[in-house]
Amino acid sequence: MNILITGANRGIGLGFVRHYLVQGCDVWATYRTDMGSLADIDEQRLHTLQWDITDEKKCSFLDVAGVPEQLDLLINNAGIYGPKKAHGQSFETVSAATMNEVFDVDCVGVLRVSQLLASRVIAARGVIANMSSKMGSNEDNTSGGCYAYRAAKAALMIVSRSMAIDLAPDGVRVITLHPGWVSTDMTDNSGLIDVATSVAGLSSVIENIDNYEPGAFVAFDGKSVPF
Ligand SMILES: NC(=O)c1ccc[n+]([C@@H]2O[C@H](COP(=O)([O-])OP(=O)(O)OC[C@H]3O[C@@H](n4cnc5c(N)ncnc54)[C@H](OP(=O)(O)O)[C@@H]3O)[C@@H](O)[C@H]2O)c1
Repeated sequence: MNILITGANRGIGLGFVRHYLVQGCDVWATYRTDMGSLADIDEQRLHTLQWDITDEKKCSFLDVAGVPEQLDLLINNAGIYGPKKAHGQSFETVSAATMNEVFDVDCVGVLRVSQLLASRVIAARGVIANMSSKMGSNEDNTSGGCYAYRAAKAALMIVSRSMAIDLAPDGVRVITLHPGWVSTDMTDNSGLIDVATSVAGLSSVIENIDNYEPGAFVAFDGKSVPF
């Protein structure tokens, strides 16, 4: 299996890399600026690409040249939370610049990468897995705040559902994922589960994608998340 994972130098993305290498897959792992722990993995089936998913020029033909013609699985994992400090995304303080910055990575970035690689996923009749968050769920939002992150991840669910419908005739299946509350840099390691637990669950969901409707929003434990 050929698998491409964005934002793979740390956190959940790196966990996916390790998981799929153990499974014997060929993995194309993208990093934005720093290879991080990818540099320590001595494995011929690991291929690295430097991509900033907000940079249209970098996501050009030349950078895709290293990607195989058939991709069985594209995991759009890269994402940012935006300002984390207290009230950084409150009604009073959140700025248009913050809204746009988070939206560009968490929603537009996913669409950009998917458009770039669609022909390769179609060639393999493969799967696109988009990493959203329960924080983008309207139903789950009982505490308010987090304007930029919630809005971007909610928009990603919409984009992901449209992709699922539009690419279905080409044999591509698309799913939207919630990884749980995971101990990574994004959560300042305050999560309820570790990366390995999240990745084990998410990869099982991906493997069983045919049990879910196109564009379904599913958590690491296999349960559908209302949104
Ligand atoms: N952790 C959780 O509890 C949780 C919960 C719900 C959803 N999620 C989602 O799961 C995904 C992974 O989260 P994580 O916890 O592993 O986060 P993380 O540890 O902060 O890692 C984020 C990854 O995304 C990359 N990235 C950020 N901006 C990028 C850009 N413009 N272009 C390319 N790569 C970029 C980062 O690269 P750099 O190292 O270069 O910054 C890093 O590799 C995210 O989409 C996140 O929103 C996480």
